[in-house]
Amino acid sequence: MSLYAIGDLHLHYQSVLKAPGQLHDRVWRNHEEKLRKNCEKLLGGRDTLVLAGDHSWGRNLAECEADLQYICDLPGRKILTRGNHDMFWDVKKTRQLNERYQPQLTFLQDDYAVYRDYALVATKGFTFEGPFYLDRRGRITGWDEEAEEHAKKLVSRELMRLRTSFELAKKDGCRKFIMFLHYPPTNIMEERSGFTDMAEEYGAEQVIYAHCHGERRFHDSIHGEYRGRSYHLVSGDYLRWKPLKILE
Ligand SMILES: [Fe+2]
Ligand SMILES: [Fe+2]
Repeated sequence: MSLYAIGDLHLHYQSVLKAPGQLHDRVWRNHEEKLRKNCEKLLGGRDTLVLAGDHSWGRNLAECEADLQYICDLPGRKILTRGNHDMFWDVKKTRQLNERYQPQLTFLQDDYAVYRDYALVATKGFTFEGPFYLDRRGRITGWDEEAEEHAKKLVSRELMRLRTSFELAKKDGCRKFIMFLHYPPTNIMEERSGFTDMAEEYGAEQVIYAHCHGERRFHDSIHGEYRGRSYHLVSGDYLRWKPLKILE
């Protein structure tokens, strides 16, 4: 019995929206097949796979049905968290999504899921991604301060959602946590953030995040051990479509 994670599948069985990289980059060619094969090799029926957001390019649930069916057909228990491109998933309608897809899929939001003696908590997160202004050498000399102010509001909303999940789990007696975000926990200017602070406050052992895909973005945030927790990027192309084992 093991816990795995991967993110940013960006499936598009019924939709036409595709990232340019997805059309041209070799790593994305037949990525659905690569992931399916790797999952079939790695996961058994008792294993759990967390999909850390950006599941589908579909603009609404009707355009995502085939993509969600693909995820249903992967082996093991599947837990989905929200990404910025998941237009089909309105937070307020999470309960309806669960009613429709459980027990095959669990849509995790403002709640927690249990894996062994761990509580899995998740939210989309947010981080300021610019625009940044650079000098000729590519060093940051400034940024759009209005966009930064807007980002701060989104970050605080996401932190509230995350706290709700931690508190619910704590109230139910959970003491061990794994924290999932879609966005990276820090932006390219930060060493720490409200998200890293919250991971420390509740003692989350690991922080798993996605969203950074395309080689230029792989090192936008924290990798490995940092202030007592371990941080892992699980975007699909970074992992070459092989889910990362998080826990035995
Ligand atoms: Fe993505
Ligand atoms: Fe994303």
